[in-house]
Amino acid sequence: MKEVVIGVTGSIACYKACEVVSSLRKDQGLNLQVVMTKEAAHFVTPLTFQTLTGNRVYSDVFEVPEEWDLLHTSLSQKADLILVCPATMNTIGKLANGICDDLLTCVIFASRAPVLLAPAMNKAMFEHPATQENIARLKRFGVQFIGPIRGELACRQVGMGHLSEVEGIADAVRKQLKTRGKK
Ligand SMILES: Cc1cc2nc3c(=O)[nH]c(=O)nc-3n(C[C@H](O)[C@H](O)[C@H](O)COP(=O)(O)O)c2cc1C
Repeated sequence: MKEVVIGVTGSIACYKACEVVSSLRKDQGLNLQVVMTKEAAHFVTPLTFQTLTGNRVYSDVFEVPEEWDLLHTSLSQKADLILVCPATMNTIGKLANGICDDLLTCVIFASRAPVLLAPAMNKAMFEHPATQENIARLKRFGVQFIGPIRGELACRQVGMGHLSEVEGIADAVRKQLKTRGKK
């Protein structure tokens, strides 16, 4: 059984993460574990992901799981792959700069699993030099990106920043699981 941790951060594209999870759960042999930021829970409830995955959803670094273990280290050690979908400008910035102030960033920094980010944000946020430098930095760290693509954004503008297509993200996860194991 392959373990995939799916990080969900606070973007309007959170509902698409439900579709990605829904697609991946059809794959036999995948166990999906969703970790949400507190901001993500403004957009989609943990219950949605809990129902889709059959697993409890975590977001608090100080929460103690049912079987005693440190939550962030147990999730990070079990992970064969970590997908962040959608990935906000904020979380991308934290990952590029070693800031781990929530469960998701702690799990990612404590893991040796490959990390795949699917960014989604406003065009100006995506084009901002801070985001571009953070993405370049993360690529140097070995983080892989899927998208974003050009499309209609939540602010009604059209431009770069739209989350990649759901099936493209799910296929990138499947491909990654076949090609690369833990470091
Ligand atoms: C309606 C709404 C939509 C948002 N959509 C996005 C988005 O698509 N991408 C993004 O980077 N931030 C977006 N934000 C801002 C983030 O939610 C905010 O930066 C938050 O602190 C991100 O926290 P997180 O990265 O811990 O989830 C949005 C905020 C609101 C209120």
